[in-house]
Amino acid sequence: METIVSGARPTGRLHLGHLHGALKNWIRLQDKYRCFFFVADWHALTTDYSSPQGIRENTIEMVMDWLSIGLDPERCVIFRQSSIKEHAELYLLLSMITPVPWLERNPTYKEQMNEIVGKDLSTYGFLGYPVLQAADIMMYKAHKVPVGVDQAPHVELTREIVRRFNQVYRPIFPEPDVLLTETQKLPGLDGRKMSKSYHNAVFLSDSPKEIDQKLSRMMTDPARVRRHDPGEPEKCPAFNLHKIYCTSQEIKEVSEGCRNASIGCLDCKKVMIKHVISDLEPYREKKSSYEGRVSEVEDVLSAGNRIAQDIASNTMEEVRSAITL
Ligand code: TRP
Ligand code: SF4
Repeated sequence: METIVSGARPTGRLHLGHLHGALKNWIRLQDKYRCFFFVADWHALTTDYSSPQGIRENTIEMVMDWLSIGLDPERCVIFRQSSIKEHAELYLLLSMITPVPWLERNPTYKEQMNEIVGKDLSTYGFLGYPVLQAADIMMYKAHKVPVGVDQAPHVELTREIVRRFNQVYRPIFPEPDVLLTETQKLPGLDGRKMSKSYHNAVFLSDSPKEIDQKLSRMMTDPARVRRHDPGEPEKCPAFNLHKIYCTSQEIKEVSEGCRNASIGCLDCKKVMIKHVISDLEPYREKKSSYEGRVSEVEDVLSAGNRIAQDIASNTMEEVRSAITL
């Protein structure tokens, strides 16, 4: 079986964007690969070193959501990056062979430098974080790395670092392939990308009532100012959810109703909202079973950490010997 590694920063409660962006995919991969999914808590520090409060709590919250939505610790290894100190050692050793220009020309780096304001990104850690990511991936000798397009350059860089390591020392590591997560487009309530910081997200843990209220006021085709104005579903942010959740018959009916203005937006959304709510029912049940049992989540992490630790120790022995340390 091939090995998969992927990580996520501890963002706390997950929303529908996470679900359709990565998680559904992770859940499917569990059966086909040997999977390692981890909380990238050191990565969180690369952009937010000055506000580390909450990383710990967000870690637990996120893993609880992972478990509730269907990641199964029997079928994948779930662990915390900062618990496996070997990641830091490999990061250090890889940094010795990584040319600085490789990091400076990384498109994601350049983009974030330009786009993220109000955070200090001028640090060594931020420039070097793709090397840490390479260490995360190489530690478990991953063959495939499921990520979104924004992360693809980092996997490309990992491949370059792998080639360099294998050439300079000894071939130990496979070159990992990107497994592009084809994200279903899922805008937030205001039509922008769904994000906690934009306050436009539907959280998995929202109650049915909250989901109903939020989605009922989700942005629609701006052309439908009045009830009798015809609309175009393809221009409607809410319709992206119809495409994910509704039956083809329902999609056909509301599309027609939208185009000839025979259905109002609220009624149209109701058709979709009931699916969103019922789809999350098993999640809510599982999640509520964790209520007040945070220690179970911690146990899952401890068990995962032990497995990861064993593999990391072995990899590092090989690495040290290849470098003749
Ligand atoms: N950098 C990724 C992000 O910001 C998270 C991450 C860290 C990761 N290490 C990884 C993803 C290794 C895949 C593989 O989302
Ligand atoms: Fe969107 Fe439905 Fe309103 Fe059309 S009728 S704009 S598809 S919510």
